[in-house]
Amino acid sequence: MKKIPPLVCSITLGLGLVGAAFAQKFDGLAQTPPMGWNSWNTFASNINETLIKETADAMIANGMRDAGYIYIVVDDCWESMERDANGDNVPDPKKFPSGMKALGDYLHSKGFKFGIHSCAGTKTCAGFPGGRGHEYQDARAYASWGIDFLKYDWCEHGTADARETYKTMRDAIHTAGRPMVFSLCEWGQNKPWEWAGDVGHMWRTTGDIYDSYDGRKGWEMGWKRILDLQYTLVDGNGPEQIGRYAGPGHWNDPDMLEVGNEGLTFAESRAHFSFWCMLAAPLIAGNDVRNMKPEIRDLLINKDVLAIDQDALGKQGYRALADPGKNIEIWVKELSKGEWAVCALNTNSAATDITVEWDRLWTIQGKFNVHDVWAKKSAGDNTKPYKAHVDSHDVLLFRLTPQK
Ligand code: GLA
Repeated sequence: MKKIPPLVCSITLGLGLVGAAFAQKFDGLAQTPPMGWNSWNTFASNINETLIKETADAMIANGMRDAGYIYIVVDDCWESMERDANGDNVPDPKKFPSGMKALGDYLHSKGFKFGIHSCAGTKTCAGFPGGRGHEYQDARAYASWGIDFLKYDWCEHGTADARETYKTMRDAIHTAGRPMVFSLCEWGQNKPWEWAGDVGHMWRTTGDIYDSYDGRKGWEMGWKRILDLQYTLVDGNGPEQIGRYAGPGHWNDPDMLEVGNEGLTFAESRAHFSFWCMLAAPLIAGNDVRNMKPEIRDLLINKDVLAIDQDALGKQGYRALADPGKNIEIWVKELSKGEWAVCALNTNSAATDITVEWDRLWTIQGKFNVHDVWAKKSAGDNTKPYKAHVDSHDVLLFRLTPQK
């Protein structure tokens, strides 16, 4: 065997260590689930810089920005159909004539952070240029545009390995030097909860959501189906499920919100929102916030409900009770300072009485004051069951505070 001189050895080792230290995600981001807005659910390919600016302005006027919705994410279809002669991914000049840097400057000047979508494959799901083979070049461009959040999709990935591919983009972002929330969107196909904790800040757990309670349209699912998948994705054994992989800086993402979109009743929007908060999910609104009903705005900016999602402990809630034949589910979420959130859902297609028997929620031990969060009133304490009439697909949401 050829002898390697010690100097070469230590240089190689040194470089290796530098490389290893470099290969990491930006820490300290997304300590609570990211909140913002994304263009896809309502606008799909019908996007342009005017829409994005109007959305930002509306989110200031309607209180969303100040409630914490700060990431404005331009999803698929912002690009030109082809890369330019240098291989750069450039915006469609008709949709974004001022360019992405100018849009980022506008958003930053209004107190927002700027998000964008691309894809780990050769093309995005809508057929625009993907990032494969251009990771470092694209990350540099995104950094120069002031991007703060990258959603990275999984269409046209061929035989690529998910973990390696997303790690490449993570390293590219790190090398570009601008902190960005890295949002993996590989739809839970390769169990990202098991390996993406040091790759990204959030990862999709399922296929796409659409504005339905529990419908199915090919690849797309209503929010209740997605909710069900959150506790069956690994093995469905008890309250751990995939929730145990989520926490500050690394979140399960059950997809963006459909709150306020046509296919949901008000009750279904309210229940959807409550559950995404119970899941400690990223809250990325997907409605037209320029034209939303006041009652939808009031849902989205309800501080007490948002506090459940944004709780510093960062624990994902889980389904604690689902009595066969009763069409009622009760979920619990542990909060910091010994508090708990409890959410009861009426899955019936008609209104029904729900009785919450606190002593059946065995993880919640001790005496608590109970606050009905949506009704904004006390619901007594947890020594006796709480009974209420609940509309179809609506919820009761409680916050339990330990008695002194
Ligand atoms: C995939 C993603 C969606 C959206 C579309 C855009 O389906 O899961 O959230 O980004 O691509 O084409």
